[in-house]
Amino acid sequence: MNIAIIGYGKMGKILESLALERGHRIAGAADPFYGEPRTASGARVFKSAAELAAALGEAGGGAPAADVALEFTRPDTAAANIRALAEKGIPVVAGTTGWLDRLEEVKAAVKAAGSSLLWASNFSLGVHIFFRIAAFAAKLADPFPEYDVGGFEVHHNKKADSPSGTAKTLAETLLGVMTRKTTAVYQTLDRPPGPEELHYASLRVGSAPGVHSLCFDSPADTIEITHTARNREGLASGALAAAQWLLNCPGPGKPAGKARRGIFTMDDVLEDIISAKECKE
Ligand SMILES: NC(=O)c1ccc[n+]([C@@H]2O[C@H](COP(=O)([O-])OP(=O)(O)OC[C@H]3O[C@@H](n4cnc5c(N)ncnc54)[C@H](O)[C@@H]3O)[C@@H](O)[C@H]2O)c1
Repeated sequence: MNIAIIGYGKMGKILESLALERGHRIAGAADPFYGEPRTASGARVFKSAAELAAALGEAGGGAPAADVALEFTRPDTAAANIRALAEKGIPVVAGTTGWLDRLEEVKAAVKAAGSSLLWASNFSLGVHIFFRIAAFAAKLADPFPEYDVGGFEVHHNKKADSPSGTAKTLAETLLGVMTRKTTAVYQTLDRPPGPEELHYASLRVGSAPGVHSLCFDSPADTIEITHTARNREGLASGALAAAQWLLNCPGPGKPAGKARRGIFTMDDVLEDIISAKECKE
C-alpha cells in the first residue's frame, strides 16, 4: 500500500516505521507543525491534509498517489482533514479521538464524495476483544442490581481529550446491553451517582499508553476486568490491518486492491476476521 500519514506525531512516526517494516510505502505526510521537509524515511511533508490530498489524491499530477491516509492528529482538525482527503478520493483510516460530535457531518461528506472512511477510537485488537468481553460481562451482571457498574481510564499527561474515545465506546457498549444503566457520566461528581448512571472516570498521568478498567461491585465482592496497552505498536499495527482490510490488500507488502466504499469501524474488521475463522472450522 502507498500510505499517506496525516499528523506526524507519536503515532505518525510509529505508523511510518511499522508500515515500512511490513513492506508498505510512505507516499507523503502532512503536519503543519513538523519543522522538517521530509519524514525520517524521506517522504515529503505537506503543510496540510488538503495540500497533500491535492498532490496525492485522484486530482494529483505526477506524484505517486496515496492508496490510503492514516489520520492521527488532534480533535479540532480531524473532521476537516478527513473531508479534504475524501473529496480527493483518498480512503481514510481515522484514529484521532475527540471529534465524534462531527461524525454525522463527516459521514455525509465521505458518502457524497463516494469515498471511504474507517474510524475507531482505538485500533488495538485487544481492546476490541475487551469490548466484547465487557458486553458479555455486563449482560451477565444486568439482572443483579447489587452489582453496580463503573470504571476508569488512565492515559499519559499529553493526551488532549478526556474521557478517552475508548472509554466512551466502552460506556456506550455497556449502556447498549444493560437495562438498568441508561446514562454515562464522566465528570467529577459532587453528588452520589444515580442507580441508572454509569460513572466512568479519567486520570492523566506520566506516559501511560492506555488503561481501561471496569468493575462490577457488590457489597460482598468486586469483579474487575482491565485492558492495559503496553505500547503504541499494538495500536499502529491494528490501524495498518484496518487499512489493509479497507483496501482489500491481501497482505503486508502486497499492492492495494479496490477500496471498500462507505463508512466502517474496527468492529467491521473484527466481525470479518471472526466470521472467516468460523467458516474454516
Ligand atoms: N485510535 C487509536 O487507536 C489511537 C491510538 C493512539 C492515539 N490516538 C489518537 O490519535 C491522535 C494523535 O495521537 P498522537 O499520540 O500521535 O498525538 P501527537 O500529539 O504526538 O501527534 C499529533 C500530531 O498531529 C499534528 N497536527 C496538528 N494539527 C494538524 C493538522 N491540521 N494537520 C496535520 N497534522 C496536524 C501535530 O503537529 C502532531 O505532530 C490523538 O487524538 C490520540 O488520542 C488514537
